[in-house]
Amino acid sequence: MTVEILSLCGPEEFARTLAADARAGLTQSPKTLPAKYFYDARGSELFDRITRLPEYYLTRAETAILERTAEELVALVRPREIVEIGAGYSRKTQLLLEALGRHGGQRFVPLDVSPAALAEAGQRLTASYPWLEFLGVCGDFEHHLGGIPRSGARLVCFLGSTIGNLTAEERVPFLRDVRAMLEKNDRFLLGVDLVKPLARLHAAYNDAEGVTGLFNKNVLLVLDRELGGDLDPADFAHRAFYDPKRERIEMRLVALRRVEARFAKLGLEVVFEATEELHTEISCKFRREVVARCFKDAGLVLERWSTDEAGDFALALGRPG
Ligand code: AVJ
Repeated sequence: MTVEILSLCGPEEFARTLAADARAGLTQSPKTLPAKYFYDARGSELFDRITRLPEYYLTRAETAILERTAEELVALVRPREIVEIGAGYSRKTQLLLEALGRHGGQRFVPLDVSPAALAEAGQRLTASYPWLEFLGVCGDFEHHLGGIPRSGARLVCFLGSTIGNLTAEERVPFLRDVRAMLEKNDRFLLGVDLVKPLARLHAAYNDAEGVTGLFNKNVLLVLDRELGGDLDPADFAHRAFYDPKRERIEMRLVALRRVEARFAKLGLEVVFEATEELHTEISCKFRREVVARCFKDAGLVLERWSTDEAGDFALALGRPG
């Protein structure tokens, strides 16, 4: 019915934050970049391809849980609106939106860093659901949760195990921000990938087709375009491995030779020694006790825990405690 886009992070602010994050991250040791910069239009497309890879079980497992539980969940919460943090193309969310329509809800409010993904989702979802009010909010979940307008009872969703991109230390402060979005009868639905044997985790981030490698290297093209850089993805290799102690995937780009890069817009030169690594992403894996504990520390109560049959993935439902 209506597609509206609200920008909490305009192009200028985006450029400023990227410049500051890149300068800080590329001049420290080890070099690091925030994972949110993967998702320009091409990065969002590549991630979409990842979700369909045979090795990447996460999306299919989460979809299976939603297929089984969405109706019951929406019937329990009776929200007027569904807010989705880090929504991307919002494909899995359709299962929740269909239930929302059946139970008299009206609005979908996805928050995402990619305006392209929001626009695409807005067109597609309002075409499928003529009753739907679509308010896309462009922003990132570390800064802009408080700026999302509220229209009534809420189900706030954070799917796909995107919370895995946060370190263990960043998790509770983030969940407190989520808690602050909730009133008494609202709920929070969180998707988490579960700890499992190393081989499957490794395969999920080292697919045979090499799509994850393209996704990882795409961040270099984002830096080149936004900061006038001259990095060449061919000078780097994709590396992803599971750290069983911290229960997380580490994703990196490894310099194949010594690389001297210039970023014209930053007035910055950066040297990568041969074999030096750029840390591009972490993807934490979870256990029920860990989720229950961070919920508690953030003022939330773990009300339901649903997994797929194989026990690969879980949806945790939280309510204000
Ligand atoms: C979108 C952050 C959940 O960590 O599995 C996929 C991103 N990175 N393959 C994940 C990703 C490499 C994904 N998240």
